Amino acid sequence: MRVTWQGSSLVVRTPAKLNLYLQVVGRRPDGYHDLETLMVSVGLYDTLKFSPTVDAAIRLTCASALASPATIPTDERNLVVRAAQLLARQTGHSQGASIHLTKRIPMEAGMGGGSSDAAATLVGLNQLWNLERTPQQLHALAAQLGSDVNFFLDSPVAAACTGRGEAIVPIELRRPLNFVIVQPSSGLSTARVFQAWQQFGQQCRTDLATVVEAAARPDATAWPQVTDNDLASPARSLNPEMNALLQKLETLPALGCGMTGSGSACFLICHSSRQARTLAGRCRHWNLGQVYLASTGV
Ligand code: C5P
Repeated sequence: MRVTWQGSSLVVRTPAKLNLYLQVVGRRPDGYHDLETLMVSVGLYDTLKFSPTVDAAIRLTCASALASPATIPTDERNLVVRAAQLLARQTGHSQGASIHLTKRIPMEAGMGGGSSDAAATLVGLNQLWNLERTPQQLHALAAQLGSDVNFFLDSPVAAACTGRGEAIVPIELRRPLNFVIVQPSSGLSTARVFQAWQQFGQQCRTDLATVVEAAARPDATAWPQVTDNDLASPARSLNPEMNALLQKLETLPALGCGMTGSGSACFLICHSSRQARTLAGRCRHWNLGQVYLASTGV
């Protein structure tokens, strides 16, 4: 996450994420699921501009820079508005803000765009409103907003995440990773995918500790075994388009291939940025979804 002042406005650039490994440990009494996951920040960014207002209203406007136009809600359905309201309520702050969101992170893709925007809102308004909340206090609010918001508050390049996904241990990667990301035209509901997981259960062949160790190694060859995702089978059963995409991606000579989060975006881990460009060309030719090139970055 990068924060810069532009006059009296604050501009926050916030990244997307990919889950390179995701194991569902089990269902919790509160209806959520405990996870063990390896997340990386990738260089596809949303931008949020926060400006002061004279009244108490929180106003959100959005512009989509995505290739496929999408309707982005500007009311409480948007996590940005909920994050701003939560911060104002918790701190008793009465001044409003005007927020402009430029959307570049694919939506309903499992890339954490909404969570990333919510984290940017907590960080941005904490500064714009001079609230001086500590990182710990912002983390407590982040956990109330969604399972991935805590990850984006810290924006580590890579992290092992447990609990609902909100307990984060940063990991150092020895080299940048290059990805091709393909998003099929239909998305997936996170809640529905977790529900469908009950029929499939645990399928990961490795555990998080092994994956973290592989991720920290400088050699690339360890990657093919670490792209397990317990949510891939339920997601494939719910979205035939995504299933077809993953079947095609699996035939390509990349280091690894998988689905991020609860889908529907899938990715290839590539040997180099050059290989990523070559494989992205092949993916575009298949016409199975929107193709993005990205590498690890915050
Ligand atoms: O936390 P978030 O709002 O992103 O989650 C959306 C939905 O996905 C939750 O309402 C829940 O049904 C499901 N979920 C889950 N376990 C998680 C994360 C999400 O069951 N760890």
